[in-house]
Amino acid sequence: MKPSSRTFLVTGATGNVGSNAVSHLVAAGHQVTGLTRSRSAPLPPGVQRFVADLTDSARLQDLPRTDATLLIFPSLTADHAARDIVTRLASRTEHIVYLSAHGVERVDPDAGGIMGSHALVERELALTGVNRTLLRSSGFAANTLMWAPAIAAGQPVRAIAGDARRTLIHEDDLALVAVEAMTRGPQRPVSSLHLTGPEVLTQREYAARIGTVLGRTVVFEELSDDEAMATLFAGMSDDFGRSIIEGQKRMITDPEARTDTVEEILERPARPFTEWVRDHEAAFTASPS
Ligand SMILES: NC(=O)c1ccc[n+]([C@@H]2O[C@H](COP(=O)([O-])OP(=O)(O)OC[C@H]3O[C@@H](n4cnc5c(N)ncnc54)[C@H](OP(=O)(O)O)[C@@H]3O)[C@@H](O)[C@H]2O)c1
Repeated sequence: MKPSSRTFLVTGATGNVGSNAVSHLVAAGHQVTGLTRSRSAPLPPGVQRFVADLTDSARLQDLPRTDATLLIFPSLTADHAARDIVTRLASRTEHIVYLSAHGVERVDPDAGGIMGSHALVERELALTGVNRTLLRSSGFAANTLMWAPAIAAGQPVRAIAGDARRTLIHEDDLALVAVEAMTRGPQRPVSSLHLTGPEVLTQREYAARIGTVLGRTVVFEELSDDEAMATLFAGMSDDFGRSIIEGQKRMITDPEARTDTVEEILERPARPFTEWVRDHEAAFTASPS
């Protein structure tokens, strides 16, 4: 393969979406820098590492110049530094592809919570005037990994808002769309892509589909808000927990809307949830360590 002279930066390079994006960019022969907090976090061979913690933007003054950046932002924990981070990134790159969230356009940037965090980053990006592609994603299929320990132990899934209807998306579909946007370059100063999975199902139905792939019944038990705060979000900020609960409950009456954007960009349908489960089956069958 002919090496490319095109340069790309990926933040969140060890996470669900970033790690897949890094792998695809490297496999296509591009020069890739992965931003990680740790000096030893695994990155594919050939990837340059830039060690930085995005809660401290000062370090970003040494960033290499790149053709495009995939910005995966530590929602809430780095909000205080959002303006500095975005300004520094925008001065070092031609195009920012930002992993945002579905529904952000209806949210006040000062609202707080996860959605407020995405609205804040989108506002800061707009203020810089940088070319940007906003990947406004529905919920990630990977969120159901939270259920994996219970399912692997043969216990019920205990979660919130069983009737919330979502269109969960495979993280690798998001990564491929991000890579397409980065390598194609900005088609216009601002592009917003509403990205979803191929189906709209309730949380209970997603749990049942995991059971179908595993060949057994997975029981879903709904938690009250207080039970969820005391168990699922124990040790996390109140703001974080409450914003997730409210967001999930809203999707009971106002489900995530499905789009064909992934298919239009990748020229094949978005991958169904059962395919995602098969790709991650080991997580749902692993014995607890
Ligand atoms: N889950 C959903 O349903 C959903 C839907 C729409 C949008 N989103 C957004 O997607 C993003 C998360 O993407 P993901 O699931 O691919 O990530 P992830 O798997 O949750 O991993 C988080 C990544 O961010 C890095 N990170 C965390 N704190 C950092 C910091 N202070 N400085 C630098 N890097 C830091 C982590 O690196 P380390 O290796 O250093 O930990 C890791 O690479 C968030 O902004 C979230 O709001 C999520």
